[in-house]
Amino acid sequence: MAKRRINKKIKSLEERNKYGLSWDYEREPEKVVLDCQTRLPVLKEIGDNKVDNGPDNITNILIEGDNYHALSVLNYTHEKAFDVIYIDPPYNTGARDWKYNNNYVESTDSYRHSRWLSMIFNRLKLVRKLLKPDGVLIVTIDDHELQNLTKLLEDFGAKNLGRVAICIKPEGRRQSAYIMEAHEYALFCSWGNPKMRGLNVDFGLDFPETDEISDFRWEGLMRRDAPREDRGSDYWYAFYVTSNGGLSVLPSRDSLEVYPINTKGIERVWLWDKERAAINLSQLKATNRKGKITIYYKRRKQEWVKPTSFWYGSRYNANAYGTRLLKSIVPETDFDYPKSLYSVLDCIDLFLPENGIVLDFFAGSGTTGHAVLELNNDDKGTRQFILSTNNEGNICTEVCYPRIQRVMQGYKINDKDKLGLGGNLRYYQTAFVPAAQTDKNKELLTKQSIEMLTLKENTFEKVTANPEFVIYKNSDKYTGIIFDQLSFIKFKKFAGKLNKPISVYIFSLTDDDFSDDFADMKDIVKICSIPEAILRVYRRIFR
Ligand SMILES: C[S@@+](CC[C@H](N)C(=O)[O-])C[C@H]1O[C@@H](n2cnc3c(N)ncnc32)[C@H](O)[C@@H]1O
Repeated sequence: MAKRRINKKIKSLEERNKYGLSWDYEREPEKVVLDCQTRLPVLKEIGDNKVDNGPDNITNILIEGDNYHALSVLNYTHEKAFDVIYIDPPYNTGARDWKYNNNYVESTDSYRHSRWLSMIFNRLKLVRKLLKPDGVLIVTIDDHELQNLTKLLEDFGAKNLGRVAICIKPEGRRQSAYIMEAHEYALFCSWGNPKMRGLNVDFGLDFPETDEISDFRWEGLMRRDAPREDRGSDYWYAFYVTSNGGLSVLPSRDSLEVYPINTKGIERVWLWDKERAAINLSQLKATNRKGKITIYYKRRKQEWVKPTSFWYGSRYNANAYGTRLLKSIVPETDFDYPKSLYSVLDCIDLFLPENGIVLDFFAGSGTTGHAVLELNNDDKGTRQFILSTNNEGNICTEVCYPRIQRVMQGYKINDKDKLGLGGNLRYYQTAFVPAAQTDKNKELLTKQSIEMLTLKENTFEKVTANPEFVIYKNSDKYTGIIFDQLSFIKFKKFAGKLNKPISVYIFSLTDDDFSDDFADMKDIVKICSIPEAILRVYRRIFR
């Protein structure tokens, strides 16, 4: 016995990377992982937390619980389902920003990097199967674990699509001993060849005017952010404006000279150089308000641009569009780490199609869900989100859930109504059934799997429920779950009247194939036996 153990150890040491990342994975295994040897994770719906804006709305999901368990369930319900997985894990700063096995990881803990790597490693193992072949994983991180994370993703064979430094705190962190950090990173990677939509520079803008070329909006031609001395003389010149609004870059009689000088008298520059202005005068206009002449240009809908590796601008400010925005929606909260809504929105928008599905399993205050609702509101898309977070400090119940619910249904800021963005939500908690594979436990797993199966099939509306079978639906299809094989005839009679495809899950203690029993309905029926199909996935991930 001892010899076998020694041989196994030798083999595992021989298989270890000779070059690359190594850490002490075995030193203190993660409890949530060990848990799965004796009990299997399932989901339990908390019906009272449902947000229902009607059947035309997309149903999104929030799962409260440890994300290791949530990801295990998703390995059964959402294999190869996600276009984008966006995560913002704890950065392991040593400032009590996360717990390993229920204990805060302090900066004095000499195994802090090992613990963090073990935690991330356990989750990344479950992530790969959830992404579509060309899906994209986005991980935000700062310098505490950047190098370890980059190496770990490499070890997982993820292709690096690029890394963006996002300026989230332009004034820098005052607590820093030397250089004050102002940025963090978003790492983009994939195991396929994703197509990038690009950065939507027009997000949230209206283009109310139309001409023979396209939709457009009038915007001021003077650059507010560039002083004269920065851009050289090509961008500093005068327009000559006549009393009836005529515009030229050449002096004319009876015209007024207009330079790019702001109301405080500071000299700026125009957005276009003189040559461009001269040949595009029809794209410009001048207005005269109380003697103040302003030059406008037609800003056209630009679609998408390729992003650079450095994102800077007020929209990424974590205080303005993270902390303060969150407080305006959920005033009771004092959550420390919300992302700027727009930094998440821009990250996911690069790769998430208008009908795509995104997962965030370190959801915290739910910024990713909020970003998806904003994106759908902007272009009437049908993106769907699944969020998962633990409930540390009541982050799920008292911050993430109320935020999503209020953004969906509307809320008040300073006594003014903020309209809801729509969308439906189903709320689940992780729960467990015993793992020992007895007939009794298999029956229990089948009974507990209703929520998992309705989630897998995206069919949440109950049609019928009795001890022999249940049926759920959405606008396109049905899901039937049969607990008692003696009820096939009754079930088929019921299902025969339904006019849409139905996925049928049948309880069996073995892995029976029931296709003969449903041969007469094969055009509309897809059959699967449970719990074996679920157990197969769990055997793979917990072996
Ligand atoms: C850095 S925060 C994410 C913040 C989020 N991006 C936002 O904008 O609000 C990380 C979150 O993950 C949660 N978390 C940490 N470990 C977790 C785990 N094992 N399972 C589920 N959630 C976890 C924490 O409670 C915390 O709220």
